[in-house]
Amino acid sequence: MTVKILFVLAVNFAYLAVKGNLVDGDQTFSIDYKNNCFLKDGKPFQYISGSIHYSRIPHYYWKDRLVKMYMAGLNAVQIYVPWNFHEPVKGEYNFSGDRDLVHFLDLANQTGLLVILRPGPYICAEWEMGGLPAWLLETPNILLRSSDTDYLQAVCNWMNILLPKVKPWLYSNKGNIISVQVENEYGSYHACDYNYMRTLRTIFRSFLGADTLLFTTDGDTERALSCGSLQGLYATIDFGTDTNITKAFRLQRRFEPHGPLVNSEFYTGWLDHWGEVHAGVDKWNVSKALREMLALGASVNMYMFEGGTNFGYWNGADHDTRFRSVVTSYDYDAPLTEAGDPTEKLLLIRDVIKQFRDVPAGPMPPATPKFAYGFVTLGKVGNIPSLLDLFSPQGLIKSQYLLTFEEMKQYYGYMLYRTKLPRELWEPTPLISPLNGVHDRAYVTINGVFQGILERDTALVLKVSGKQGDTMDLLVENMGRVNFGSKINDHKGILGDLLLGSDVLTNWEIYTLDLDGAIAGGWPHSEARRFPPADGRGPPAGPMFYMGTLKSNGVARDTFLQLKDWSKGQVWINGVNLGRYWSSRGPQQSLYVPGPLLSATQPNNITVLELEGAPECPRVLFMDRPHLNRTVGRSGGSAGVGSRHPGRRDPGDGVSVHGHVERTTHRERSILL
Ligand SMILES: *[C@@H]1O[C@H](CO)[C@@H](O)[C@H](O)[C@H]1NC(C)=O
Ligand SMILES: *[C@@H]1O[C@H](CO)[C@@H](O)[C@H](O)[C@H]1NC(C)=O
Ligand SMILES: *[C@@H]1O[C@H](CO)[C@@H](O)[C@H](O)[C@H]1NC(C)=O
Ligand SMILES: *[C@@H]1O[C@H](CO)[C@@H](O)[C@H](O)[C@H]1NC(C)=O
Ligand SMILES: *[C@@H]1O[C@H](CO)[C@@H](O)[C@H](O)[C@H]1NC(C)=O
Ligand SMILES: *[C@@H]1O[C@H](CO)[C@@H](O)[C@H](O)[C@H]1NC(C)=O
Repeated sequence: MTVKILFVLAVNFAYLAVKGNLVDGDQTFSIDYKNNCFLKDGKPFQYISGSIHYSRIPHYYWKDRLVKMYMAGLNAVQIYVPWNFHEPVKGEYNFSGDRDLVHFLDLANQTGLLVILRPGPYICAEWEMGGLPAWLLETPNILLRSSDTDYLQAVCNWMNILLPKVKPWLYSNKGNIISVQVENEYGSYHACDYNYMRTLRTIFRSFLGADTLLFTTDGDTERALSCGSLQGLYATIDFGTDTNITKAFRLQRRFEPHGPLVNSEFYTGWLDHWGEVHAGVDKWNVSKALREMLALGASVNMYMFEGGTNFGYWNGADHDTRFRSVVTSYDYDAPLTEAGDPTEKLLLIRDVIKQFRDVPAGPMPPATPKFAYGFVTLGKVGNIPSLLDLFSPQGLIKSQYLLTFEEMKQYYGYMLYRTKLPRELWEPTPLISPLNGVHDRAYVTINGVFQGILERDTALVLKVSGKQGDTMDLLVENMGRVNFGSKINDHKGILGDLLLGSDVLTNWEIYTLDLDGAIAGGWPHSEARRFPPADGRGPPAGPMFYMGTLKSNGVARDTFLQLKDWSKGQVWINGVNLGRYWSSRGPQQSLYVPGPLLSATQPNNITVLELEGAPECPRVLFMDRPHLNRTVGRSGGSAGVGSRHPGRRDPGDGVSVHGHVERTTHRERSILL
């Protein structure tokens, strides 16, 4: 630990010593080791909780989702705090709008829901880099999730900002936070660094006091619990419907001989990756396992209860045998849909809960009204190379060799790498990423002519054609940093060299791109300048922007945007980044558009960045229901759809984390409209 960390801790311990005697609230939350249960205000307490991620739901819908969770009979919600969402740039914090954590805590409190807080610093969550900020990677060889000094210093600085904000919301301070998780499934990480966990324990204790209930969560294996649990932190486990409940809790008992049984992540559904089959978990199996656990007196958190959306660039990725990024929708086949609508799974869960506690009287709030606005035709508005003064206000950096996103201090989205062909290509010549260093996809053009794609783990060679001195552009997409396992130091951009035939390419111009800034600022709808309409020769392939407007005729409602026959890209509505689409792979085929994003009176601005090639007739469709289950193309590589984590296995770690979740691939979920 550096002197600075020690200083922060010392100050807080001094504060504690004084404060410790003064605070004597009448609200208490603790563990009764004799009777194997939680104690809330001195009485036995069992929580029935659901996970909801405020970072995946627009803030204007937070209350709606919380009320539905309350009406389902839950008495608590479990939430993650994604560090990178709040400190996207080192030292620049954001706690407003969709990032207003305290407002969320307040709404939950007003709704009558307790909160189980999971502030990380690492959260997994299928979120970009598991919630860790990408700027950590600017420190060469930083050992994330360990007692590495640079890493710990950053963690300590962050906790120094975060934990004082949540402290007034602790249950003992008349707030609603009953317990706080330290790290996240740490036992599944290869480092197994006890000093790291000890330091976190010290930090959490120093900010939150000696009485706050701190806990850990780990997969139901011996190794995971050994590396993830620590004295003074109550050890809980997580597992899904296909796990033998008796066996799993017996394992928890090995580490916590007394105290409440807790499943901190009971999987109600599962996530999707691009190019794989849509995941789901059978609702009857969910209700059956929930009943069994509650009958044992266990406290249960359902992961997820409301999944939401990976808006913008916030999806994470897995990297076991190959890189697999998570889709935009985080519907998760959860009891509340991505759009917050109750499902039959929710009603079955409520029926189970009714057998154990009173659920609030009154009907379940209905689904939010949806609207099918129909087709909107888009027009071409330009490509990135022709608009660099707009998209790259910072300009270029000249570099002999390639630099990563982190070295350029652009953490998300897209960056442009440009060089000139060093020689005449008499015949199509291989452009090679010898070290598999394209992270994650490069769209290659030479003098404006699209050549094709290099893709991490999948396409390391591309034949290109051109003349000496031609400009070669590689638009590189960060498809979301790895959020789980041993490969979370996931630098983006082009790592290592690129070869043209046997020549190393040098003399690069590298452009950081702020597409979101330009689009939020009104482009392209604010521009009088237009590209000429289609010239009849069909759309050119390669990255290209399209725009259009949706007239909503007085109705601003939730809707789902389908880009059938488009390939892959990014969509903005009224300047807000809805996320990625990849219609040519699936399974996700539509993007959730929250109604409050739309204007009822003004034309709504649609902006699409299509990366590979738009359809002949570039139109999009606004529908009244989602389409999440059509897998069209598959990424290459050895691990096909069938081999997708039977238990989430990371070879580097050698540990199966989540017990494997059975899934029903072709099941339709009924949404109660
Ligand atoms: C903070 O986050 C909110 C919500 O995402 C966003 O609207 C706002 O622009 C951000 N503020 C800054 C200073 O980046
Ligand atoms: C939480 O809600 C309770 C009950 O409505 C209220 O008494 C308490 O003051 C609230 N806590 C905070 C921190 O606002
Ligand atoms: C429910 O769980 C059982 C036992 O794990 C499994 O065999 C069965 O296939 C599951 N049912 C469905 C519909 O997924
Ligand atoms: C679960 O495991 C326990 C203990 O190993 C065993 O007795 C029981 O039969 C198992 N239950 C099922 C449904 O397999
Ligand atoms: C669409 O873009 C134009 C030009 O930037 C802007 O004036 C208008 O307010 C935008 N519409 C909406 C609904 O945001
Ligand atoms: C996908 O879901 C739709 C409804 O959204 C359903 O009608 C259809 O049968 C499902 N298709 C597949 C292939 O599972």
